[in-house]
Amino acid sequence: PRVAVVFGGRNSEHAVSLMGAGSVLEAIDKSKYEVIPIGIAQDGRWVLGASDQRFAIEQGELPAVDTSGAALALPSGQGTLVAYDPGSIPVELGSVDVVFPVMHGPFAEDGTIQGLLEMAGVRYVGSGVLASAVGMDKAYMKTVMAAAGLPVGRYVVVRDRDWRLERERVLKEAEALGWPVFVKPARAGSSQGISKANDRAALEEAVEFARRHDPKVLIEAAIPGREIECAVLESLGDEPPGASMPGEVKVEGGQEFFDFEAKYYPDQMSLTVPADLPAEVAEELRAMAVRAFEALECEGLARVDFFYTPEGELVLNEINTMPGFTSLSVAPQLWAASGLSYPALVDRLVQLALH
Ligand code: DAL
Ligand code: MG
Repeated sequence: PRVAVVFGGRNSEHAVSLMGAGSVLEAIDKSKYEVIPIGIAQDGRWVLGASDQRFAIEQGELPAVDTSGAALALPSGQGTLVAYDPGSIPVELGSVDVVFPVMHGPFAEDGTIQGLLEMAGVRYVGSGVLASAVGMDKAYMKTVMAAAGLPVGRYVVVRDRDWRLERERVLKEAEALGWPVFVKPARAGSSQGISKANDRAALEEAVEFARRHDPKVLIEAAIPGREIECAVLESLGDEPPGASMPGEVKVEGGQEFFDFEAKYYPDQMSLTVPADLPAEVAEELRAMAVRAFEALECEGLARVDFFYTPEGELVLNEINTMPGFTSLSVAPQLWAASGLSYPALVDRLVQLALH
């Protein structure tokens, strides 16, 4: 089969995507699959190839899609791809069996590329349009999770109009959550645009900061507790999706929460698998992770993040329908500890998409 690994994208998790794609391109079985690397540049151009592509942070510099390759026409409707070389000569790439969008955030993990691929008649790895769109929007994600009986924290949604015209009401509602609060763009990832606020002035600043990423913002009550993450994988047969061992993530770099640096720069974060939890809590958490996956009708892989409070409660923080996917990222590490190696995980995802 021919697998197009698509990376980059028009969003602030562009570099994170490249780090994941570098791992996938290295691990995918080239004797089994013909691999076509495709980058989506920051400006939205699709380009073929990865010969000079840098996939890692080097000297503190984030990687970005190298646009010197042939420009790609968007998927054609027949599952075929056409590229134009720099002299504008079309190059037929033939049909592609599976697209593996190793991408995160808006235009990548939010149902838009999934919809494009549906229109093009190309199969792809991961969740479909609805699950991707709902998973990306933290407000709708919580609505669906709560409707499925899963515990979510308290929060206030601030739409553009609310902020511009009814700021006083928003601030009052937010204050009722108690300090501190976490302020997040509704549709972003990798902690971009997130900050913690301890008072009204900081809150106003935090909302403005989040609004640089998305006019829709969430203000969330802080939930004290340990951060436990669990990965869920669809099964190849008729069995229900399976949950990995839960793992605990801890910030090591002195940050107050998992900001972008903690997530992607070396030695800033630690992961303990399995998390040190009472057996019945671990089982409940795994069952909840599967329920979250099913509540959104996810496909392929997802990572579900929880808080475990000092009172012994589990609270669902969020689901990621295309979780960070370098070989050292949390979801792949959780599966590795659960007996599924990174190359086997990549293979499983491609097989699930081919199914
Ligand atoms: N949004 C990042 C990639 C994650 O959730 O892992
Ligand atoms: Mg996320």
